[in-house]
Amino acid sequence: MSLFNVYPLFDITPVKAANVFVYDKNGIEYLDLYGGHAVISIGHSHPTYVRNISDQVSKIGFYSNSIQNPLQEKLAAQLVAQSNCKDHQLFLCNSGAEANENALKLASFHTDKKKVISFTNSFHGRTSAAVAVTDNANIVAPINAQQEVDFFVLGDLTSVEIALQKGDVCAVIIECIQGVGGLDESTTDFYQGLATLCKKYNALLIIDEVQSGFGRTGDFFAFQKHGIEPDIISMAKGMGNGFPIGGILIHPEIEASYGLLGTTFGGNHLACVASLTVLEVLKQENLLENVCAISEYFIEKASAIPQIKKIKGRGLMLGLEFDFPIAALRKNLIYKQHIFTGSAKNPNLLRILPPLTIKKQHVDQFFEALKNELS
Ligand SMILES: Cc1ncc(COP(=O)(O)O)c(C=O)c1O
Repeated sequence: MSLFNVYPLFDITPVKAANVFVYDKNGIEYLDLYGGHAVISIGHSHPTYVRNISDQVSKIGFYSNSIQNPLQEKLAAQLVAQSNCKDHQLFLCNSGAEANENALKLASFHTDKKKVISFTNSFHGRTSAAVAVTDNANIVAPINAQQEVDFFVLGDLTSVEIALQKGDVCAVIIECIQGVGGLDESTTDFYQGLATLCKKYNALLIIDEVQSGFGRTGDFFAFQKHGIEPDIISMAKGMGNGFPIGGILIHPEIEASYGLLGTTFGGNHLACVASLTVLEVLKQENLLENVCAISEYFIEKASAIPQIKKIKGRGLMLGLEFDFPIAALRKNLIYKQHIFTGSAKNPNLLRILPPLTIKKQHVDQFFEALKNELS
């Protein structure tokens, strides 16, 4: 039997990882500026993470959502305290797509409407409603195309209002900083305008923080810079530092009822401990401050490289735009310089998504390597 061949793979087999480094089966060390696609937040195999998960699995790893699980309560309290999203309610699931799927479903239940507004270059996942609001025709199957979705250009508030006026929209879904699409972000006026329009026309504002959340931008959530209060916030990636966990934070005005949402694996004991440990380490190691400091240092160094035409994004969710496709450069960075980086829908954009524990010496290592490849 063979694997269903959907991933173009680099010929590297990691067997070990520690903090910002990954080691392959031949013992080669790679600097990880990709974080397995923005997933590694507190560093690979952080000692506290290893200890807490090991301790938990030796007690109980899983039981279904039919029993009391105080770890979920603890996670909700800690999350609300650290993110400053006061009084929000937490629903836990297993991935980013699932978080958005539940967010959209909840918006539809809550408003009794079904159309969604999304934006060009968006990426929200591959499940039914999540992929329908993703701007990539190649991954939308005919079965998903039944969803009613209007796509607008980021920043086009006028078109959003015209669509909302029809009264059939249950939600507006948006990434504050687009990830896969290429690190575009609109203005505070635009995000505040969206929040106002959603209230006016009884649609929910869903902010997708799957990639940008949990400190990656230097704020706990990226939307916080714009001073808005979303109705639903979706999270995943950095939330579990590699342990599969996702979730939505739900505004207190949205009421729950038994059976409205549900999952077998979501919020299990191990997932909760993984996420609680991420929150503990973010706080103990002042990682949000580190993100801001390292981001500033990184941008300063990138600005001195003439081949880099534009630096996009915030915090440690960055994109370096060149005036040529970066596929070959990225390959050389991996195979010759032993550094992982990311790509985007924009072929000229190299994405930088390291663990939030990265230090200046790792940034120096990257720029030395980049200069070698560009010379
Ligand atoms: C912004 C955003 N939303 C949703 C997803 C989907 O997450 P998952 O792959 O965990 O389903 C991603 C994944 O890249 C993402 O970047």
